Amino acid sequence: MVELLRKRRSIRKYTPRKVQKEKIIKIIQAGLLSPSSKNSKPWEFIIVEDKDKLEKLSFTKAGAAFLKNADLGIVVLGNSELSDVWIEDASIASALMHITAESEGLGSCWIQVRNRKYNDNITSEDYVRQILNIPSNINVLSMISVGYAAKIPSPADLEKLEYRKVYLDSYANKYSF
Ligand SMILES: Cc1cc2nc3c(=O)[nH]c(=O)nc-3n(C[C@H](O)[C@H](O)[C@H](O)COP(=O)(O)O)c2cc1C
Repeated sequence: MVELLRKRRSIRKYTPRKVQKEKIIKIIQAGLLSPSSKNSKPWEFIIVEDKDKLEKLSFTKAGAAFLKNADLGIVVLGNSELSDVWIEDASIASALMHITAESEGLGSCWIQVRNRKYNDNITSEDYVRQILNIPSNINVLSMISVGYAAKIPSPADLEKLEYRKVYLDSYANKYSF
């Protein structure tokens, strides 16, 4: 698992190669298998394959432009009526789908939607809601772009992890690795 996590990087450039449906299903299964508070499963997912919609979604906020060149996007929704901690639950689902994409040999990237703005008057959430016909009581947390990576970045170096942020028994006592 740590080897997979070392290789997981945010991929923002993709080849035009199509992602096989079996791989999309694996990624969605990972989302649906996510743990959630009180097992409330407040998440829902919209798979976006339509090129026109992907392009529109790429304008959701600054830092989303690369979505238009992804083969697909997965929009991660959360129902706050089902859980007071839907943000945590939908975040875990987003992260597990991101890492499952890596395990399937795909590149992906988390695009933040919640708390972001399309412009001064429209939130990124409302912009996405209107493109994908999402009702106003359903929140939009993130979008996960997915495709075959144009370039494979080098894996993270275990030697360079921020071990200094880990403590033993007390904040006053660093964990010794
Ligand atoms: C909550 C969250 C929000 C993020 N939002 C964006 C985003 O909107 N656009 C983007 O290009 N990357 C986004 N990222 C990816 C981060 O920039 C990336 O994980 C970080 O720079 C570390 O790089 P790495 O994933 O390659 O290790 C987000 C990641 C997380 C966890």
